[in-house]
Amino acid sequence: MPKVVFHKSGHTYEDEVKENTNLVVRAGVRQFPYPNLVYGCGMGKCAKCACRIDRGAEHLPAPNWKEKKQLGERLERGYRLVCQLWIHHDLELTQEEAATDGGAGALPACA
Ligand code: FES
Repeated sequence: MPKVVFHKSGHTYEDEVKENTNLVVRAGVRQFPYPNLVYGCGMGKCAKCACRIDRGAEHLPAPNWKEKKQLGERLERGYRLVCQLWIHHDLELTQEEAATDGGAGALPACA
C-alpha cells in the first residue's frame, strides 16, 4: 500500500492508503489526512487542495488542464491539485498555510 507523508503547519502526518486513493475523497469521508488537508470543490476548480509534492512526483501523471489552469507557474514549483490525483505510489507532500486562506472554512463559489 502506498505510504503518504503529509506536512502541514510544522506537523507531519503519515499513514498508508489503499492503492488508487484520492486524498481529497478520503479526507471527505473523515479519513487520513482528515482533518488536516484543506480542500474545497473536489473538482479542480478552487485550488484549495494545492500541495507541493516533495517526493514521489515522478509517479504522478502529467498535470491535467484543470491543474494547469488553477496552478499556473506553481506547477513549475512542484505544486499539484490533490483532488486530481489518484495515488498508486509513496508520496510526500506539503500544504502551506497560504493555500488555505480565502475564507474561514467556507466553500468557494465554483463556477
Ligand atoms: S478541492 Fe477544489 S481544486 Fe481541489
